[in-house]
Amino acid sequence: MIFETYFSKELEQLEEEKYKNSIIIMIDILRASTTICSMLFNGAKEVLPCPNPDDAWQRYRERDGINCVLAGEARLKLPKGFGLGNSPTENTSDKVKDKTIILSTSNGTKIFTKAVPANYRIIGSFVNADAVIDFILRNKQGTNSIIILCAGEYGEPCEEDLLCAGYFIDHLMQDKQDVLKAHSKEAELLYLDHKDDIPSALNQCKHSQDLYDLGFRKDVEFAGKLNICSVIPLISRQNIITSAK
Ligand code: MLT
Repeated sequence: MIFETYFSKELEQLEEEKYKNSIIIMIDILRASTTICSMLFNGAKEVLPCPNPDDAWQRYRERDGINCVLAGEARLKLPKGFGLGNSPTENTSDKVKDKTIILSTSNGTKIFTKAVPANYRIIGSFVNADAVIDFILRNKQGTNSIIILCAGEYGEPCEEDLLCAGYFIDHLMQDKQDVLKAHSKEAELLYLDHKDDIPSALNQCKHSQDLYDLGFRKDVEFAGKLNICSVIPLISRQNIITSAK
C-alpha cells in the first residue's frame, strides 16, 4: 500500500486522477472532523459541508430549512443566524438527532468536498480512529493508495492533524512493501514521538491555545480522546456525509 499525506495548500497541485483507486482520510482535529464525528454519533441524519456561510445559507434555503440546522464558525465566531457552532461538545443529541446539519467552518469543510473520484472518502479523527481503521481494512480491495488530507489552519499545516495522520499510518501499515510518500514519514515519526500521550501533545498545539483563550478547552480535551465516537463518516459523491452502517 502507498500512503500519501498532504496539507490543504498542496491540494490544488494534485490531479483528480491521483484519487482513483484510493481511500481518502480527511482530518481536521480542531475541530471540524471531531465535530462531525460527534454530530453523527449523537444521531444527526447527515452533514452537508459548505465552504462558507453564504453557501450554507443557500443550501438551507434550498431545503426551506426543513429539519435543517445551520452550524459552524467563521474565524472562530458564530456566523449570523447559525443555530450551532463548531464545538464537538455542544452538539448534543437534543440539538442534532435526525437533523440535516449544514456545516461551514474556516478550514475543515473546505477540504471535505475534494477527491471525489476516490473509492471511499472518510472523515477521520482521534475520536473515531479505530472504527475508520477497521472499515479501511475490511474495504481496501482494489485500493492502491491511502491518501490523507490534513485541513490545517488557513492553509498552514497544523501539528494535531499530522499527529492523527501518523496514527492512521502506523495502524494501517501492514508489510515491508508499504511506501510512505509526501508528508507520511513525517506524520509517522511525529506520532511515534507522542503515541503514549496524545492529549498532552494536543495541549501544546497552537490552535489549542487559541481555543483555550476562547473558552473551548473542553473541545480540545474531547478531540484527544481515542475512539469515544465509534462512527465512520463517509462522504458521498454528492458530498453528503453520513455514518456507514
Ligand atoms: C475548523 O474546524 O475548520 C477550524 O479549524 C476552526 C475551528 O472551528 O476550530
